[in-house]
Amino acid sequence: MTPPADAMAEGFALRPLIPPGKSLTAELRNQLQGQWRSTLAEHLYGDIPPPPQGLTVERLPLPDSGAEHLRLTLQQDDRQFSVDAALWLPQGLSGPLPLICGLDFVGPAGVLLSDAFPLDPAATIYTRPEFGADGTMTETLRGTSVYRWPIPLLNEAGYAVLLSSYGSWVPDSAERWQDHGVSPLMGTNDKARALSLWTWAYLRLLDAAMTLPEVDGSRMAVAGHSRLGKAALWAAANDPRIRAVFANQSGCGGAAPARHRVGETLAQMEAGYPHWTLPGNGQAAAEDLPFDQHMLLASIAPRAVYLTCAEDDLWADPVGSYKALCSASTVWGVKDSWPDADAMWTGKRPVAKGALGYHLRPGGHDLLPLDWRQALAFLSGQMG
Ligand code: GCU
Repeated sequence: MTPPADAMAEGFALRPLIPPGKSLTAELRNQLQGQWRSTLAEHLYGDIPPPPQGLTVERLPLPDSGAEHLRLTLQQDDRQFSVDAALWLPQGLSGPLPLICGLDFVGPAGVLLSDAFPLDPAATIYTRPEFGADGTMTETLRGTSVYRWPIPLLNEAGYAVLLSSYGSWVPDSAERWQDHGVSPLMGTNDKARALSLWTWAYLRLLDAAMTLPEVDGSRMAVAGHSRLGKAALWAAANDPRIRAVFANQSGCGGAAPARHRVGETLAQMEAGYPHWTLPGNGQAAAEDLPFDQHMLLASIAPRAVYLTCAEDDLWADPVGSYKALCSASTVWGVKDSWPDADAMWTGKRPVAKGALGYHLRPGGHDLLPLDWRQALAFLSGQMG
């Protein structure tokens, strides 16, 4: 089946990333990446705060759960902030091991089936209405992220997994996002928006991972779904420790270009989630924006990027995300052509070129074990 007409955008074009007539050297790539990052920080995501002055990691047992409870305490001047994460290590493998580091909406309490992991009373999260939730971490959320984070599958593939709830770091609320966690700790102002603060959370989880003797700091990947896919991509664009990123249905402000007029627009995202990004882009014509999302992807080169989309999730613009990846691939030096969007849509198979991969699957907006299976198959060739 070819893509439905409303998945495609007429007259779509992205500005070329490499100036005409220039050939791509490592030096030119670094220079362009510096410009893309600054443009994206200045116009879309805002600043990522510097690392905190102190970070300690306490390892606490979680009996019979297969996981450990990590308590991270971050310190800046006379301020402190503690946050929970969980670590799962593959059984029977001796380290150092590659790592998958994730933020999830609910976090470890959503993945563990026992009630041993604390529910964070200070977290503000997006929760599905069917779980009877109101944006706080309630008992009804326990175990609801199990299928999104199929830990045994990840551990069997050889990865240690480190996971935390995004809402413990930065409340996902337009009214309260600066009231708790990263913003008061680091004393940030309006220029550091929530997506950049969740990015900061990914980077601190990696700092914590690097203190663990079981983890190989040269083989770390980050993963996130949807709004957390946006933050995972921005983290990978900014931190060369990240060897690979898996962004699932990251959509507007993630992999989906504003110039591809399908799904969520920057104006809609700004209206629904004003705290995520800097204001003002929604009013501009997409063609006039000084950035687009292929720059975000290209800022990650030469490291690995895996994107996933779903055919019923036009809100996250599967075709536009694919085209952004194809366009960015010039910065990885990919010379051979990608299947066109029709062939990609019809095939519903993973498509990969070197360090870049993409798949479209049937179904809607969610992170499914199938997404992980395909991402893990791709990562196995990238993580050493
Ligand atoms: C909303 C939002 C998207 C976001 C998604 C999610 O749909 O409009 O930009 O990616 O939530 O995070 O699940």
